[in-house]
Amino acid sequence: MYYNEDCISGSKKHLKDGTVDLIITDPPFAISGDKLHKHYNRDEKHVIDGYVEIPKDQYMDFSINWIAQAHRILKDDGSMYIVSGWSNLLDILLALEQNEFDIINHIIWKYNFGVYTKKKYVTSHYHILYCKKQNNKKVKFNTNCRFGPSEKTENDGSALYSDMEDVWVINREYKQGKTKNKNQLPKELLKKMILYSSDENDLVCDFFLGSFSTAKVARALNRNSTGFEINSEAFDHQINKIEKIEAGCMLKDLKIPENKIHFNQGKSWSEEDIEKLLTRYNALKTQRLSDKESFEILSGEFGRGRFSILNIVKANRSEKT
Ligand SMILES: C[S@@+](CC[C@H](N)C(=O)[O-])C[C@H]1O[C@@H](n2cnc3c(N)ncnc32)[C@H](O)[C@@H]1O
Repeated sequence: MYYNEDCISGSKKHLKDGTVDLIITDPPFAISGDKLHKHYNRDEKHVIDGYVEIPKDQYMDFSINWIAQAHRILKDDGSMYIVSGWSNLLDILLALEQNEFDIINHIIWKYNFGVYTKKKYVTSHYHILYCKKQNNKKVKFNTNCRFGPSEKTENDGSALYSDMEDVWVINREYKQGKTKNKNQLPKELLKKMILYSSDENDLVCDFFLGSFSTAKVARALNRNSTGFEINSEAFDHQINKIEKIEAGCMLKDLKIPENKIHFNQGKSWSEEDIEKLLTRYNALKTQRLSDKESFEILSGEFGRGRFSILNIVKANRSEKT
């Protein structure tokens, strides 16, 4: 259910304690977001009117009050992602502390289309605070939801490591000529947070729905969703749209992670194993295979990760020199 209401009073009325698995939300930033088009010099005719901004002098109390509700409705193993600009980030950080949330990661989301400036640096990032309730050790996190342990990037690094780094480079969507909300979050960003931090049929809540981006991606990934938007114009425009999204429609297009576990992973290397590996490695080198190709073959034959093989070969080289 979605509510065209203030998120603080609305959540008190409609959401019970400990019922939400994941909160993803992008509150107003108290930077006159309702007038942002003046800075961006953008054509506002496709932007929905009535974005509700919070005055700076009320931002701290406002943040404390909605984050208190977030803490109340979140399950013990649940988590929360808050997207924030840097201008009033301090208020959000203090409100999190006051409400007994711990920050697990402070993620930087780097996007395109920063505001062009001449006399200062261009702002082209947001902060994403990934949090849990204090003292809860077990938080739902699906480590291999996008990449398996042995998948590689184009540069031969670990794809999983790269995906789990805390700087995310994700472009905003350029929706020329389409009706939109101010500050709409891109699907790729939402997909990443939802996949890592929830399972199918879990409940995802957004306190500030705007164009319902979180709710739309959650539904497309077969999660349940709920949330609040105080602006009637945005709410009425989006509420019909979300019902037309087929639940789970994005699932079939997801990349399937290769969860290949090597059959000898974790076993220590015996002298004999090392001997056999080096003999086979030298044989492959006589076939003029590159190290990358050789390690791929050896990984399959010896049931070990490529880094483990690389380390043995390197150690053997340095012994000889
Ligand atoms: C930054 S936007 C959210 C954008 C959204 N994440 C998206 O991708 O479209 C913040 C939204 O919060 C709404 N809002 C402001 N105060 C609110 C309140 N007290 N309760 C619910 N919504 C509120 C604003 O009208 C605005 O649409």
